[in-house]
Amino acid sequence: SVIPVIAIDGPSASGKGTVAQRVAHVLGYHYLDSGAIYRIAALAALQRGINWQDETALVHMVHDLDIRFSQGEIYLNGAIITEAIRTEEISRGASEVAVHPALRRALLSLQQGFRQLPGLVADGRDMATVVFPDAQTKIFLTASAEIRAERRYKQLMEKGIHANLAEILQDLQARDARDSQRSAAPLLQSANARLLETSQLSIDQAVQAILEYSRSDN
Ligand code: C5P
Repeated sequence: SVIPVIAIDGPSASGKGTVAQRVAHVLGYHYLDSGAIYRIAALAALQRGINWQDETALVHMVHDLDIRFSQGEIYLNGAIITEAIRTEEISRGASEVAVHPALRRALLSLQQGFRQLPGLVADGRDMATVVFPDAQTKIFLTASAEIRAERRYKQLMEKGIHANLAEILQDLQARDARDSQRSAAPLLQSANARLLETSQLSIDQAVQAILEYSRSDN
C-alpha cells in the first residue's frame, strides 16, 4: 500500500514550516522542508561562484551535493548550514534558482526519497501539484501578505535582529510574485487541495485543522 503524504503548500512566511513540523511530530511522520533544498542549492552556488541564472551549471552542481537533515540540523557535504540558509540573500537566491525547470527536475527524486514509513509531511510550493501528486491530504496554507510580514517582523525582533516592516512586506510581495508567476511549478492551489487561511488562526488551530483533514481523508 502507498505511504501516506500530507502535502502543505503556500507562500513565504505563511507559517507552513512551523505548522508542518508540528503535524509531523504529532503523527510521528517524517518531515520534508523542500524550501531548504532550494536554499541549499542557492548557498552551494554562491560558495562555488556559480551564477543563480546559470541553469546548466546549477544542474551539474546538484549532483555533487550531499544533503542531510539530522536532529534539527541541516548538513551540506558534512558542514552545518542550518542558519546560513536563512539569510535574506539566500531567501532571494532560493527563489531565483527555483525558476529553472531542469534544476527542479534534478531535485525531484531527492525530495521523493523522504516518503518513508510511517508517513511524510512535506511543505513547499509544489508538493501537491508536482512532487507528491498522489498525496492523501493536500493543504494550501496561506495568510494575507500584511499578516505574514508582521509575523516575520516579530520573529526577527525576538531574535534581536533589526528589521523594517515595510521592507519585509515589499520583499515578501516580490517573492510571492516570482513564485506565482514563474512557468515551472508556480505556486498555486491545486484543484483538490483544501484552503487553510490562517490570518485569524493560531499555530495550534492550524495544526488541529490539518490533523482533522488528514483523519477525514483516510
Ligand atoms: O519555503 P522557503 O521560503 O524556504 O522557500 C524558499 C524558496 O524556494 C521559495 O521562495 C521558492 O521560490 C522556492 N521553493 C520552490 N518550491 C518548493 C519550495 C521552495 O520553488 N517546493
